[in-house]
Amino acid sequence: MRFTGKTCIVTGGGSGIGRATALRMASEGGRLIVADLDLQSAQATVDQIHAAGGEGIAAACDVGDSAEVQAVVAAAVKSYGSVDVVVNDAAMMTFTPIVDIAEADFFKVIATNLGSVFLFAKYGVPHMNAGGAIVNVSSVHAHRTTENVVPYAASKGAIEAFTRGLSIELAARKIRVNAVAPGAVDTPMLWNNPNVKSGAEKVTGAIGKPEDLAAAICFIASSDAAFVNGATLLVDGGRLAQL
Ligand SMILES: NC(=O)c1ccc[n+]([C@@H]2O[C@H](COP(=O)([O-])OP(=O)(O)OC[C@H]3O[C@@H](n4cnc5c(N)ncnc54)[C@H](O)[C@@H]3O)[C@@H](O)[C@H]2O)c1
Repeated sequence: MRFTGKTCIVTGGGSGIGRATALRMASEGGRLIVADLDLQSAQATVDQIHAAGGEGIAAACDVGDSAEVQAVVAAAVKSYGSVDVVVNDAAMMTFTPIVDIAEADFFKVIATNLGSVFLFAKYGVPHMNAGGAIVNVSSVHAHRTTENVVPYAASKGAIEAFTRGLSIELAARKIRVNAVAPGAVDTPMLWNNPNVKSGAEKVTGAIGKPEDLAAAICFIASSDAAFVNGATLLVDGGRLAQL
């Protein structure tokens, strides 16, 4: 029960890795704020938490929108007093070459994937307790990538640099900041990816379950990882190791 008495915000908690993480944290005693663009799916996660005897609330939030992020932090503080864990999981992809992509679409990916990490740090950290942890969800695309996903790959690379830098800034507050970089994981985001559908991005190797990532994220967010800081943990079943 590594999260007993801890308040945990999980973005993208209505599906896939975010949902599995929220369920795992709640099963280990965490009080969850499940934030998602899709309130119904966030509420469905919270319904599962409650059915299992856990504690949590759902929040509608576009993580790229400052006012909505601030509202989620305020809801966490109002309900539970402070924040211990933030998991920045929500993200989006585009599949358009850079010369063709609309400026607005490029900046939307950056705002959703990277801006959200900044906003939850800026507005969440002042309410976080010593011993707290931020876990940012990156991707193997930060390291090796495929065509037409430059905004996504760039946002994920930047998340890892942001993670390192913020870990230094927050060390004095005793708040750890780390990232996980998933490989292919069995979620809607994987199977809706046109590059995966076309075979341009090959996922013939190991495919992880959302619960595999939840286990890694919960480890990093917990005091089991007290000496892990500023790191990115690759959780890809060995995919990047093989040339
Ligand atoms: N599935 C994979 O193979 C894979 C691989 C590498 C990295 N990742 C990363 O894992 C994370 C979770 O992805 P997943 O595969 O579980 O996807 P998913 O599609 O199952 O879930 C993503 C969730 O994020 C929510 N979301 C999207 N935009 C949002 C926004 N602006 N504000 C709030 N919520 C928003 C969606 O509504 C959805 O519930 C993402 O950061 C993704 O980049 C996934």
